[in-house]
Amino acid sequence: MRTPTNLLHGPVVNLSAYPAHRPRRLRRDAFSRAMVREHLLTPADFILPVFIHELPGRAPISSMPGVERLSIDELLKVGEQALELGIPALDLFPVITPSAKSLDGAEAWNPDGLCQRAIRALKSRLPELGVMTDVALDPFTTHGQDGIIDDSGYVLNDISVQALVRQSLSHAEAGADIVSPSDMMDGRIGAIRQALEAGGHVHTRIMAYSAKYASAFYGPFRDALGTAGNLGKGNKYTYQIDPANSDEALREVALDIAEGADMVMVKPGLPYLDIVYRVKTEFRVPTFAYQVSGEYAMIKAAAANGWLNHDAVMMEALLAFKRAGADGVLTYFALDAARLLKAG
Ligand code: PBG
Repeated sequence: MRTPTNLLHGPVVNLSAYPAHRPRRLRRDAFSRAMVREHLLTPADFILPVFIHELPGRAPISSMPGVERLSIDELLKVGEQALELGIPALDLFPVITPSAKSLDGAEAWNPDGLCQRAIRALKSRLPELGVMTDVALDPFTTHGQDGIIDDSGYVLNDISVQALVRQSLSHAEAGADIVSPSDMMDGRIGAIRQALEAGGHVHTRIMAYSAKYASAFYGPFRDALGTAGNLGKGNKYTYQIDPANSDEALREVALDIAEGADMVMVKPGLPYLDIVYRVKTEFRVPTFAYQVSGEYAMIKAAAANGWLNHDAVMMEALLAFKRAGADGVLTYFALDAARLLKAG
């Protein structure tokens, strides 16, 4: 690099009058950048969402390159990797055979259902690994809604809560450490907490999807779960939050904390960091963010085209969650990011 020496002659401003503050001093060397770094990622910041299926082996998901649907045997291998890398927990998403789906989603609380068997397998083989489950009916309903619908297709609140309580109890009975209601029905956290206490499941943690938005970023997830076809032209606007709102998210978080949530979640992630920040600042409770399927797919697609540096963008996005105040991130990048952190 050549210094453009013509600029060194005849300065146009008097640099002796330059302010005392030169923020670039601390950025000059790696050691001083490290000294003043405010946020760090560790594998303990991640929760890995995993898709499980009834088939043997693994199956790719076209809109989520690098993510696969796993048999219970493969799930155990991934669980072992997560544990070795220091990832504290997995979050299970079952892909249900179409013939097991119904109007009321009763397969959700089948004690021998796919999710319940996966929980038992993980807890008996890898007891130290946290097992979290998604509580919602969409994998199990023929219409792909998270609750039970009336003839007009409207998702009925209170009867759906009854179903979600049964689902939560069946997860807790199978040994789930954390149940995570993602359905956005009113009053479900209180009802689930009450039922867990009454059932003697006093240690079961609840991570509430408190601020869950009606987002188009969930598209690839609905492909992964095979629910996109069930939902068809339907949408979830009558229960998930309007992306235009933020005060409403704070009211939802306040309700879930009052009803007994141990941890709250904001979802999606990166486009909603303002919500993460407001929730953490306002309530000072353990706050998680879900970097959803569409966020993952965007990074993968750009990287595959050579438009973005995959690893650098992945780590920058994950760090942004910490900076915004998140205590942890649900991310499909968890294994990759933890490996990268381990490699230094
Ligand atoms: C459904 C559920 C969804 C996600 C997690 N749980 C999708 C939806 O509400 O339609 C999305 C996760 C992702 O996009 O990665 N209860």
